[in-house]
Amino acid sequence: MLGECLDVLSPERGGIFVDCTAGGGGHSFGIASRLPEGSRLICIDQDDDALEACRARLGGFGDKCTLVKANFRDIAAVLDDLKIDRIDGALWDLGVSSHQLDESERGFSYMHDAPLDMRMDASAPLSARDVVNVYPENDLYRILNDYGEERFASRIASNIVKYRETKPIETTLELADIIIGSIPVAARKKEAQHPAKRSFQAIRIEVNSELSVIKPSLTSAIERMSPGGRAAVITFHSGEDRIVKHTLTRLADPCECPKSFPVCVCGKKPQIRLLSKKPLLPSEKETEENPRSRSAKLRAAEKI
Ligand SMILES: C[S@@+](CC[C@H](N)C(=O)[O-])C[C@H]1O[C@@H](n2cnc3c(N)ncnc32)[C@H](O)[C@@H]1O
Repeated sequence: MLGECLDVLSPERGGIFVDCTAGGGGHSFGIASRLPEGSRLICIDQDDDALEACRARLGGFGDKCTLVKANFRDIAAVLDDLKIDRIDGALWDLGVSSHQLDESERGFSYMHDAPLDMRMDASAPLSARDVVNVYPENDLYRILNDYGEERFASRIASNIVKYRETKPIETTLELADIIIGSIPVAARKKEAQHPAKRSFQAIRIEVNSELSVIKPSLTSAIERMSPGGRAAVITFHSGEDRIVKHTLTRLADPCECPKSFPVCVCGKKPQIRLLSKKPLLPSEKETEENPRSRSAKLRAAEKI
């Protein structure tokens, strides 16, 4: 949803913009190309490989772009370190990148055999191997159910625990086989997608604490925005979208007074206005060209 993001952010206005999920630099390139002279783009990612790809992609922009390895939860500290007080726009393109999924040795994919890893930040302490070999059965169930919306979460969690009693689960295909074996054949036949897709997504979300960082990052970035600054957030997962929707709705209407009060007495003022009530969805052309974009949603807001 590059075009839609650029329309929302309108970097042509100039100023300081932050791409909180720089990845391979696709969106950053679009933003940097439209930024006038004297403007600046800060590109954040927690993945060293992503930053390397992004650096190669943005090389032509010289010091217009600054790349920072960080978790976007820490955006306020990143801005403080760069001595930046106010920003004019920020983008989050949440979730995993195609590059991370396609690089089999990163252990994100159920299609290729590799050590179970799934860490976006390779220096982070928790890997997928730890989650599946250490977490108690009820936590595994909760993760598969809540983050994967997996109907067979209970059977999968139980089979993971049974398997690891004999030996640790080491590889992606070992885990995929346990998951596949936990789903009844009839249910598997009905599904268009790979039977391990939801469980792998759930474990990845847990490994990278993907949901808990969204609200703090959005809130701090919006707090640092100048009036008229724009925030654009792309989600791929209903859990992400729920948090983004709730966070933006609260920032747009924080008043806690009972509905029966004629005027607000709590003093909480709106910080943003929502640019659309409903999320924007990718065009038919985009979903045809890139089937992974099918579940994307874009929410956007403007600082008051
Ligand atoms: C969907 S990709 C972004 C792709 C990018 N927009 C592009 O055009 O290439 C998401 C990226 O965000 C990074 N990421 C996810 N969560 C993050 C976090 N909490 N802090 C920093 N980076 C994060 C991932 O490492 C990944 O590279």
